[in-house]
Amino acid sequence: MSSDKQATWGGRFSGGPDKLMLRFSESVSFDSQLAPYDVECSKAHAAMLVRVGILTTEEGEAIHAGLDSVLKDIREGRFEWDIALEDVHMNIEQALTAKTPAAAKLHTARSRNDQVATDMRLFFKDACQALVMDGIWKVQGALLDLADGARDIAIPGYTHLQRAQPVSVAHHLLAYIEMFARDEKRLLQAWGSANVCPLGSGAIAGTTLPIDREFVAKELGFIDAEGNPRVTANSMDAVSDRDVFIEFANACAICGVHISRLAEDIILWNSTEFGFINLPDSFTTGSSLMPQKKNPDSMELLRGKSARLQGNLQTLLTLVKGLPLTYNRDLQEDKPPVFDSFEQLSLSLEVLAGTLSGAGMNSEACAKAVADPLLLATDLADYLVRKGVPFRDAHHVVGELVALAEDKQVPLNELGDPDVSKIHEALSADWREVFSLDKAFASRERPGMPGPSQISLQINRWREMLKD
Ligand code: ARG
Repeated sequence: MSSDKQATWGGRFSGGPDKLMLRFSESVSFDSQLAPYDVECSKAHAAMLVRVGILTTEEGEAIHAGLDSVLKDIREGRFEWDIALEDVHMNIEQALTAKTPAAAKLHTARSRNDQVATDMRLFFKDACQALVMDGIWKVQGALLDLADGARDIAIPGYTHLQRAQPVSVAHHLLAYIEMFARDEKRLLQAWGSANVCPLGSGAIAGTTLPIDREFVAKELGFIDAEGNPRVTANSMDAVSDRDVFIEFANACAICGVHISRLAEDIILWNSTEFGFINLPDSFTTGSSLMPQKKNPDSMELLRGKSARLQGNLQTLLTLVKGLPLTYNRDLQEDKPPVFDSFEQLSLSLEVLAGTLSGAGMNSEACAKAVADPLLLATDLADYLVRKGVPFRDAHHVVGELVALAEDKQVPLNELGDPDVSKIHEALSADWREVFSLDKAFASRERPGMPGPSQISLQINRWREMLKD
């Protein structure tokens, strides 16, 4: 069974492809979202062809107007995508053909191989910018507000999910702001990698026609900080390079891991066992069976979505690893994973910001948890160090005190002075003063530590960075 539709490459073929093959090989169902970029590229390409004398001015104008009207049809939902025309590029070209005979000249000196590479680079530039400005900055802002409001609330910090040392809620949340700042950096790096124009590389070996690649690059905004055009340096690399896809998916996957870790912390904090945080009704759900439940579904889904973002990265690495140069049709499969990472990460960042904005800390539960004197066992060892005891010995002494307290079933700071001084003579009358949270925080005022002045410094620094 073969279709009566003939694709634009049909010259050498006597029959069209099987209907099954059309369904199998089309990409328009997902690459149609590249339409605005494809039109932009075609306009720049046509303008260049006019400039070098391959098209007349009239032909250039007809193509320009025709492309605008095709895009308008697409935007207004009038456009009929046809899988027999395979992809967004051929659908648009075909539609243009119906509007102007000059359309037959548009594909001069270009191939879909350099065309799709260029469209995607434009997509990545927008996607990176949107993820940073509409996603990461909003999440950082919500974290900062929560941190600012909770700067006086202390909680236990955990290692191995065991109570370790006291930290402030603000310090804990600021840790995530740092992680998201690194995500921003990675996305901006991907933006930079995308900012090189492949158009003019042709199918593999450029063209014999006298094109002006720098002009096209400038038209499309592929320029460096000085405004100089950036064009790819090797046509074979340009049509088969998918590094920026991988870099983008990697940046999304790592950001997803950060979101997932934050989600996990919040899920723990939201449990009855911790009770540190209250989540807004608007981002939680109930159980269809158990009437008492208020589940942190938004956080659980965020944790789940991160698996998907990692999968997309893995898909791309595997897709590219065994391909000989240059373009191979396998590469058509490069788009769904990056589109998915973009959509899911954008959504995830929005949901995270929304949930955090409606969340509030439960100061009573936090105070109760952080009152555990064992959290200051290390500070007691430091106290002994200050009295001249070598740290290894001090560590051992405090270990003995902890064991004794356990034995006597009393809190560490309620051991009797005689018992304590029997273990080490350096534990003099003032040893209990260690067990003050205010003191513990006030002694942690060096860079990166959770002392109150350091926290203020960091909150102010981020306020300044995130303003507007
Ligand atoms: N639909 C193709 C893709 O997404 C466009 C490039 C096709 N090039 C080719 N020579 N078949 O990769």
